[in-house]
Amino acid sequence: MRYQPIPNRLFVRNRKNFIAQMEENSVAIFFSNDQSPRNGDQFHPFRQQSDFFYLTGIDQEKSILILAPNCPNKNLREVLFVLKTNKIIETWEGHKYSKEEATKTSGIEHVFWIEDFDVSLKEVMSFMNNVYLNGNEYAKFLPDVETREIRLGKELKAQFPFHNYHRSAPLLTNLRLIKSKEEITVIKKACEITNKAFRRVLRNTQHGMLEFEVEADISYEFIRNGANGHAYSPIVASGKNACTLHYVENDKKLKKGDLLLMDFGAEYANYSADLSRTIPVSGKFTQRQKDVYNAVLRVMKEIKKMYIPGNTIQDINDTTNDLMQEEMIMLGLFTKEELDKQPDLYKNYFMHGTAHFMGLDVHDVGSKFEPLQPGMVLTCEPGLYIQEESIGVRIENDILVTENEPEDLMVDFPIEVEEIEMLMNE
Ligand code: GLY
Ligand code: MN
Ligand code: MN
Repeated sequence: MRYQPIPNRLFVRNRKNFIAQMEENSVAIFFSNDQSPRNGDQFHPFRQQSDFFYLTGIDQEKSILILAPNCPNKNLREVLFVLKTNKIIETWEGHKYSKEEATKTSGIEHVFWIEDFDVSLKEVMSFMNNVYLNGNEYAKFLPDVETREIRLGKELKAQFPFHNYHRSAPLLTNLRLIKSKEEITVIKKACEITNKAFRRVLRNTQHGMLEFEVEADISYEFIRNGANGHAYSPIVASGKNACTLHYVENDKKLKKGDLLLMDFGAEYANYSADLSRTIPVSGKFTQRQKDVYNAVLRVMKEIKKMYIPGNTIQDINDTTNDLMQEEMIMLGLFTKEELDKQPDLYKNYFMHGTAHFMGLDVHDVGSKFEPLQPGMVLTCEPGLYIQEESIGVRIENDILVTENEPEDLMVDFPIEVEEIEMLMNE
């Protein structure tokens, strides 16, 4: 792996915490992700299923985990199945886990080859009444293709129709929302790499470059620092492109008077960072750009204080919207009277939420109604998008909720106008 191994005590603890939420007489089954087909004989780069990684640390395709804590056969209470490698696989694809390595990574004593799964499962199922299966329950996410866990989960239900089936997802969401010390260390590393990339961009960006050249600088810094790559498709949007929220073409030329909005984050050991910064292509903000930028920054500084136990993402969004409306009036985008008549007017200039959970996935599990607790990591990302002026500003940091003050994991990233201008002109 490109990353430093995560201590297996994290995965041991995660399984223990999952098991503690299971009903008696149950088995939980988890599948790794598919190798997603691309075209011809190619696959997309493999990315482990996040819950599977959370429970095992195993970063390899064709793996299965069984948890059956009450199984009378002690050898089947916690079993990891991995691909049985051979000379041909080693020669063509490279190294795969040995049983010993899989044990060391996951802390699971009983590691079997994947071809033994059917017979082991049949035995476990003969003792158990309840089966926990997992699925991606991310709200409003509707992919066309089935994941491996859905496909194999359906097969299991067909093979064992008389068991009671339960959802693992709510149990995992409860756990994944609160980041352990080991996870926070890894998220901080993803942030540190992202900071290096941003500083490289500040040094190198000039008018005349193409947006993808900036993207290349970011990717360069990610890869040379051991990140898997980008945690999501990076947005490098100059001028009016910044007003397209999910702009990922990144193929336009940087023009002198334009702003450049970037939203990118490294993925390290399968954990994300999520950063947005907006900089002037020329190295100097115009007065108007500075006014808009500082309006967003003021809101961010104020809203960051809300990342404390008890508040919800919904509360954060609502307050941001209120503050942002005041800033919009001061920027002359509309008057108070116009807003009173048309309360949704602000949505023309700020149309997304301010926070989401972050962790193994950039948009991590957890709903906007969840009261914040220590150990949760969220983004803080207010923005302002003025199409008619080709100005789009978003500023985004990642925040750890603690017992006391929120901890900004990006506190040492350049953010003030003067700082950005200075670094661009060194
Ligand atoms: N990069 C995606 C987001 O900021 O939510
Ligand atoms: Mn974000
Ligand atoms: Mn982002």
